[in-house]
Amino acid sequence: MDVPPRSLRHAGMAVQVWPDAEIACRVAGDLIITSIRAAEAQRRRAVLGLATGSTPERVYAHLVRQYRTGGVSFRNVITYNLDEYYPISPVDPRSYRAYMHRHLFSQVDLEPNRAHVLDGTVPEAFVAGLAAAFDRWIEADGGLDLQLLGIGRNGHIGFNEPSDLTVAEALRLPTRLVELHPTTRADAARDFGGADQVIARALTLGIAPILAARSIVILATGAPKAEAVAAALTGPMTAALPASLLQSVAGKVTWILDEPAASGLNGPWSVVRGDQDRVRGAAH
Ligand code: PGA
Repeated sequence: MDVPPRSLRHAGMAVQVWPDAEIACRVAGDLIITSIRAAEAQRRRAVLGLATGSTPERVYAHLVRQYRTGGVSFRNVITYNLDEYYPISPVDPRSYRAYMHRHLFSQVDLEPNRAHVLDGTVPEAFVAGLAAAFDRWIEADGGLDLQLLGIGRNGHIGFNEPSDLTVAEALRLPTRLVELHPTTRADAARDFGGADQVIARALTLGIAPILAARSIVILATGAPKAEAVAAALTGPMTAALPASLLQSVAGKVTWILDEPAASGLNGPWSVVRGDQDRVRGAAH
């Protein structure tokens, strides 16, 4: 905790680099709590876009700890998850509905009917209708106050995988059913007992609704993410690396990295004093 974080801006986006993954996840959790409080003060409710995967597990652990000690309540919170395998049952332990139940929903005072996860059981003929409805529900709830994102090794956000679309086309992508990229399947192999066992398709929030969030926190930890992080921050905007599309809404994006995930970035760096104090406070 004594090592000060470093900060810089790339392509107009704020980047914070923290000494290790544990602290980075705590900082991301604290940004979520700050966003809940600010949205409650303005609109009496907060609408969060949530992510799954191994990286945010510690974010949710932090939120659950804060909830248990009175540091945050979810009674005025509505959540929308980024993605879900398709097809999959919500009671399958590998589903993202089950993940969210384990790591957050069952641990805090969030109303069950306010926790939205794309439904992996919907018949295929109704998928397009479900996806369009999901985007409408977010808008009807007033839009996302904060979208939490991870980044895949291939630069995906949600399950918006690399493609050869133009940037303009990619920026318009709505919530939809997609085919998973080989890198994504390789990374999910452990959960499914082999890459060829990974469910091949998924429902994902589109690029357009992700970028429409009022603020976006993208969290990456570990050296395997360094290349995608550096490309998204310092390379051109391209649909071949979906995280680079965050540059189009740079002013509302905060990258939270640990040192290994930031190892592909060059300075000049400065120290983030306010966040350092806040994280120290949150550690107690
Ligand atoms: P991970 O996934 O947290 O399991 O690395 C991140 C992502 O693919 O978005």
